[in-house]
Amino acid sequence: MSDIATTTKLSIVGAGSVGSSLAYSALLRGSANTVALYDLNTAKVDAEVLDLAHGSQYMSQSQIIGGSDVSCVAGSDIVIITAGARQDPGQSRLDLAGTNVEILSSLLPQLLEQAPNAIYMLVTNPCDVLTTAAMKISGLPRNRVLSSGTVLDTSRLRWLVGREIGLSPRSVHAMMVGEHGDTEFALWSSASIGQAPLIEWEDEDGRRVFDEARLDALEAEVTGSAYRVIQGKGATNYAIGVAGARIVEAILGDQKAVLPVSTLLDGYHGISGVALSVPSVVGRNGVERTLTFPMNEREEAKLTKSAEALLAVQKSLGI
Ligand code: LAC
Repeated sequence: MSDIATTTKLSIVGAGSVGSSLAYSALLRGSANTVALYDLNTAKVDAEVLDLAHGSQYMSQSQIIGGSDVSCVAGSDIVIITAGARQDPGQSRLDLAGTNVEILSSLLPQLLEQAPNAIYMLVTNPCDVLTTAAMKISGLPRNRVLSSGTVLDTSRLRWLVGREIGLSPRSVHAMMVGEHGDTEFALWSSASIGQAPLIEWEDEDGRRVFDEARLDALEAEVTGSAYRVIQGKGATNYAIGVAGARIVEAILGDQKAVLPVSTLLDGYHGISGVALSVPSVVGRNGVERTLTFPMNEREEAKLTKSAEALLAVQKSLGI
């Protein structure tokens, strides 16, 4: 249970599998006092709200509301946008950019009218490009527009590394950064397990566990994770649901937590004009600052490659 202030309201736009899983996660974890679920599909959103409400007795003290009238998001502290086209098997997140920027352009002004003081978090993909688009559409300050970015990918990475050495993912201090997508990468050079540098970790026989080939394979497995899940079940939803709830708690609980969320960068390692996930301090004002960690040459090059991939898409869309 997070130490949230009273009368906090989280609104989730889109009652598809991601939005509903986000609502479910937030209710179970008590991420906000009120969770509102909004979708244009009346039958769908009413059914999701009812189904979630039916479990209230076993959840936190949060209440679930919602519907197909945008006024249900009124007065939100945080609005999470999950509405839009989702990846088909084999489709990249960047392939969705044109369609979802269009949807965002008509949706965001309506949301801002109802929740002018909210912090806006993009989950709809490509979430980094949509973060930059949302900044330009809304005119909101940089700290109040973010995306879940590679928080989810970081959770995938920590699970994979923890499974490899039989330790809790919570003791694996490693981050995926950059694009929430094909050009994301791991900050291996500053990663640690407990207090030990990850790249020096040894097994019981004193052998190094993570050589370069193994690190590359782990990174590739993270980058391919969503494709693998989508291939099998058509979408990802549970992990993004809890990852989104985690970010909400850092904001509403003013936790000053360091999370790899994505915001529009302004000179970060020389990068501007694009939103990428980098280690950031997340609190009640949203993304309060980004943290510049030392990066080796490989990591610097990968961050630049991530930026270039997104800038190319933004240029093609006139963002
Ligand atoms: C994923 C989607 C949320 O990575 O982009 O599962």
